Amino acid sequence: MPVTILIGAQWGDEGKGRVVDWFAQQSQVVARYAGGDNAGHTVTIADNTFKLHIIPSGILHEQVTCILGQGVVLNPKRFLSEVADLHARGIDIAPQRLMISDRAHLITPGHMALDAASESALGDDAIGTTKRGIGPAYTDKVRRRGLQAGLMHTPEDLGEAIQRHIQEVNETLVNQYGAAPLDADKIAAEYAEYAQQLAPYITNIAPALLKALRQGQRVLCEGAQGTLLDVDMGHYPFVTSSSPSVGGALTGIGFGPTWVDRVVGVTKAFSTRVGSGPMPTELNDAIGDRLRGTGANPWDEYGTTTGRPRRCGWLDGVVLRYAAEVNGFTELILTKLDILSGFETLNIAVAYELDGQRVDYLPARVSDMERATPIYKTFTGWTDDITHVRTWEALPSAARQYVEFIEDMIGIPVTMMSVGPERSQMIVR
Ligand code: IMP
Repeated sequence: MPVTILIGAQWGDEGKGRVVDWFAQQSQVVARYAGGDNAGHTVTIADNTFKLHIIPSGILHEQVTCILGQGVVLNPKRFLSEVADLHARGIDIAPQRLMISDRAHLITPGHMALDAASESALGDDAIGTTKRGIGPAYTDKVRRRGLQAGLMHTPEDLGEAIQRHIQEVNETLVNQYGAAPLDADKIAAEYAEYAQQLAPYITNIAPALLKALRQGQRVLCEGAQGTLLDVDMGHYPFVTSSSPSVGGALTGIGFGPTWVDRVVGVTKAFSTRVGSGPMPTELNDAIGDRLRGTGANPWDEYGTTTGRPRRCGWLDGVVLRYAAEVNGFTELILTKLDILSGFETLNIAVAYELDGQRVDYLPARVSDMERATPIYKTFTGWTDDITHVRTWEALPSAARQYVEFIEDMIGIPVTMMSVGPERSQMIVR
């Protein structure tokens, strides 16, 4: 069973990029299964920091072939600019190394304009999207008016589809939002040019994927976003429009669950969230500010895609247990443990209080989640800098107790912990 699925256990930004980079060392195929360039994966190798939004982080390993599955929505302009950036930094992205499913859906300037118009019309109720056109692109896909990437193989069909699509977008922009219409001819010409560059990457991914699976090649499914942003599993409507949890990997790439032997959850040692929506352990105080950092370091808590400051708070064990259960995690990876150094005490939410009752499970409804207040277990902190620690035994005993509590709470092992942004700053147990 050669498939590993890697999943964010919180609201995205768990540090999956660097974990993918680690697992990619033992993989032949790395595939993205959901989302688009709303994601931001950061990988630091020595003094080089790579920020990838749509291309899988596995591309940084020479032996890896990357796939963007049909669960992905693709902005061609952003994809091509990422290819050019990587090429300029010496990373080869030949089409043989990167396949895009011909069933993936295209994002257009129309989707981005609708995303911006909808957010602005929602005012105080806005979702806080990344404004990358993600929601409108998935909406078009599900209502069967979307643009599949395979259209890029037939320029005439692509041109017609873009014209029809922008005409529909303009009707909404003008009539519903009072916004200016877009120039369909200009966008069609732009997409015709992208098609020439993109066509070699676009293919039916199924034969190559199934061949790799049958040969026993190690396939790593690279999750983007996180379980609590899943359109089905998160707190709707404060979610993204795709399925970042385990089921999304199966349909977003196209294989059955019997190929999967590892489902790896990734969580930060504390909590962060960008955008609106409930977050019971959020700290609007000096502790929250300290967890966030000032923004001076690339690893501080500011969005990789939007630069927005992230909301920060203590680790939420109720969220983590839920993510472990609904995804069937076989192991957990904890990132940014080093950020907790120097706190006198640390907290983990073990349950919530909701209307005077203790609840141990995650409320499904936003209105309940918004009223839930965390019940914390408090831990003694540690003062030592742990960024140079590379073995479990060398961690301060307070740090080991913190990690062991997490394992007991969710009933699965924590197999790795990161103690700094660099590739080597990882403790493997
Ligand atoms: P959208 O995916 O741009 O539609 O945004 C929907 C929600 O998901 C917003 O709260 C975003 O901030 C959040 N979101 C989307 N992608 C990411 C991500 O990669 N990390 C963290 N939050 C994300």
